[in-house]
Amino acid sequence: MTHSEYLNANKDKFLNELLDLLRIPSVSADSKFAEDVKKTADFVAEKLKEAGADNVEICPTAGHPIVYGEKIIDASLPTVLVYGHYDVQPADPLDLWHSPPFEPVIKQTEEHPEGAIYARGACDDKGQMYMHVKAFESMMRTNSLTCNVKFMIEGEEEVGSANLGTFIKANKEKLKADVVLVSDTSMIANDTPSIDVGLRGLAYMEVELVGPNRDLHSGVYGGAVANPATILCQMIASLHDENNHITIPGFYDDVIVVSDADRTEMAKAPFSLDAYKKDLNIDDVWGEKSYSTVERTSIRPTLEVNGIWGGYIGEGSKTVLPSKANAKISMRLVPGQNSHKISDLFKAHFEKIAPASVKVKVTPHHGGEPVLTPTDSIEFQAASKAMFQTFGKNPIPTRGGGSIPIIALFEAELGIKSLLMGFGLDSDALHSPNEKYGLFNYYKGIETIPYFYQFYSELKK
Ligand code: BES
Ligand code: MN
Ligand code: MN
Repeated sequence: MTHSEYLNANKDKFLNELLDLLRIPSVSADSKFAEDVKKTADFVAEKLKEAGADNVEICPTAGHPIVYGEKIIDASLPTVLVYGHYDVQPADPLDLWHSPPFEPVIKQTEEHPEGAIYARGACDDKGQMYMHVKAFESMMRTNSLTCNVKFMIEGEEEVGSANLGTFIKANKEKLKADVVLVSDTSMIANDTPSIDVGLRGLAYMEVELVGPNRDLHSGVYGGAVANPATILCQMIASLHDENNHITIPGFYDDVIVVSDADRTEMAKAPFSLDAYKKDLNIDDVWGEKSYSTVERTSIRPTLEVNGIWGGYIGEGSKTVLPSKANAKISMRLVPGQNSHKISDLFKAHFEKIAPASVKVKVTPHHGGEPVLTPTDSIEFQAASKAMFQTFGKNPIPTRGGGSIPIIALFEAELGIKSLLMGFGLDSDALHSPNEKYGLFNYYKGIETIPYFYQFYSELKK
């Protein structure tokens, strides 16, 4: 039996196991779910053992545990380190889900005529991570594993992977490998495979403005005392100029400019602005002047407000001049930029533009560095061949807009490059209500991964 025959014979089992995994609400950001996060780690560890992994461990950290397992078949063969995450983003706002986030259902959609699984984490990253466990099982049962493999599945990716950084620094020998294989990114479309060759970095900040020492009557004091909510809006609005360039001095200084030739090459990848607008139900797009939508979400840095609050937001009305206003603001970074430097620039600028009528506090949260992965490597070639085998088309190299902060550390600490072979779609509603993952994508991933191992070991000889 070949691995694809094994997959075909086990489709229902593979699906049902993923549905069970999706039923455990492993929200890493919310301590209410800490027990469920643990249960999810147990589940993953158990399935790795069943699939045939040795030395399966649940490694405690200062936060959520890391699941490790390995199969070393021959020290002379290449070693693949599979990285993924079993934690998920919070599911709220709950009322916007058409079915409960942790009770997966399968429905057909235009993009997923073969059906898609709706659940938090379906695509990001339980569905994509679990493909690797099932691909491994398929190779083990059909005696076709051609590389050594190590699994490192973490539970804190969605909160910045701080403890994984510590773990990899302390376990360099154990994690030795030739390549890190990751499925936690998107491809262009189900009939247009692509491989991410870049990820953006991230600098995440929280700001607080304090005006008067207490909430005030907005009639008695309004117009004479600075309203922190108004000031915050003005300050935030000033962070982009009329061309939607970011105004923080020095922000673009280190950006490595992408050549015109590379931009022309990138622009050849299929992209429909109409379909994009239709999917989001917007009449127009927005962004930095002189760049396309694809460029704005890949090769250019950005600044976004992720949350903003202050004053009265309860039922009805309350005439109040709030004492405080707050916002969470994050910046996506591109190669050349450094998250610490950008955090410092933001802090200095935001403090500087605050008028004397308010006090300002800027607190940096997590960050991560941007990455670029090579396309002229054996890893990329092997992945291309694998995707050609199962999609009948060569994958297009693309640069992803999201961030996986640990990827830069794999290279810095372990000296290993990553291969970002994602099978999700940007429209799968990651981090949004009604997240989904296509059955086509799930099975295609399980089918493609073993070919990567096969071609990788052949090309490495
Ligand atoms: N899997 C995503 C990152 C991603 C998604 C990359 C799609 C490329 C395409 C990951 O789980 C994620 O959401 N990362 C966070 C960063 C983290 C520090 C919270 C992000 O990008 O916001
Ligand atoms: Mn992810
Ligand atoms: Mn995510």
